[in-house]
Amino acid sequence: MSTIALLPGDGIGPEVLDGPVAFLRRLEAGGAPVRLTGPWPYGTTGWARAGSTLPEETIGACREADVILSGAVGTHPGITAEQCPNPEAALIRLRHAFDLRISVRTVRVPGEQDVTIVRNITGGAYAGPDLHTDSDGVRPAEDRLVLEPARVREVFEIAAGYARRHPERRAISVDKASVFATSRLWRRVAHDAARACGIGFADVNVDRAAYELVARRDLPAVIVTEGIFGDILSDVVCARAGSPALCGSATINPDRAFGHGATALFEPAHGSSPHRTGSRRSNPAGAWLALADLLAWCPDLAALGLHARVRSALDAVLDAGPPTYDLAPPGSRTIGLDEFNAGVLGALADDTCLEAHR
Ligand code: IPM
Ligand code: MN
Repeated sequence: MSTIALLPGDGIGPEVLDGPVAFLRRLEAGGAPVRLTGPWPYGTTGWARAGSTLPEETIGACREADVILSGAVGTHPGITAEQCPNPEAALIRLRHAFDLRISVRTVRVPGEQDVTIVRNITGGAYAGPDLHTDSDGVRPAEDRLVLEPARVREVFEIAAGYARRHPERRAISVDKASVFATSRLWRRVAHDAARACGIGFADVNVDRAAYELVARRDLPAVIVTEGIFGDILSDVVCARAGSPALCGSATINPDRAFGHGATALFEPAHGSSPHRTGSRRSNPAGAWLALADLLAWCPDLAALGLHARVRSALDAVLDAGPPTYDLAPPGSRTIGLDEFNAGVLGALADDTCLEAHR
């Protein structure tokens, strides 16, 4: 049994989760080994409802859960940044609270194969608050970037697992070894880890990597890199895909056993898009990609093969069109979120292999 805590969050977060949650509820009602809890308050809306962007009840629910499914954290209409500054800190706190230290993002690039971006997410540039010192406007501000060799190796081992699935495609390790000592460590560990795993990662400087991700026809299967580089490059790959909605994001703890608190958090990588909130026009593909990754992560759900079924239902809707507004050429017909979800849920309902869980 996998327990999923739902943290819809801010802006378009709740609406993009509608389809995936409807599917999970259908599984739950059909007796599949899954249990949903929540929705729990989180982000700017959490602050409005419960007085904190990450209230105690939400942390408690994540302790009781095996995985977290989130919509978005960020600005929410009607609440100013002065009232609730930096809601993203709730996401960072959650990552630290459950030691969700590695980020794995899947970008679906139309007409190409997926690109997977693996990065460290709690060490390095995304270290806890003690390595970040704010300025009063007079004294300098400081962000310390510290990388532990063991943590870098771990990121490579996860990345190698993805690269192994695509031996015919490139895998790249991105750094800025000419400038940063942490990058020189990164490169050294990369070579050792690659040798140990039998996987070759080509070293690419971060500036060159950004250029190639835009200009080079073939995309790498896997990009492994430091947290901040990966944050930026995953948006570049999304641009190549045509929309930030084509990215599912997982933040994982590779060694926490199920039954001992959240092992991973799954979310679409796009933000809360406050100006589109309630329009029901947003593209929910990122939430479906996140759901597919969640279904692959939970062993008892993975055993049912649900992730591949969700993925092919999603791919069918994206390939068949019409697209949501973000992917549509100007003036062409588009569909809204509900029509999109009806397509995916319909394809899943037609999937006879899911019969036992309806
Ligand atoms: C993302 C975001 C986060 C990150 C922020 C909100 C901490 O930019 O999910 O890409 O950098 O991981
Ligand atoms: Mn980002």
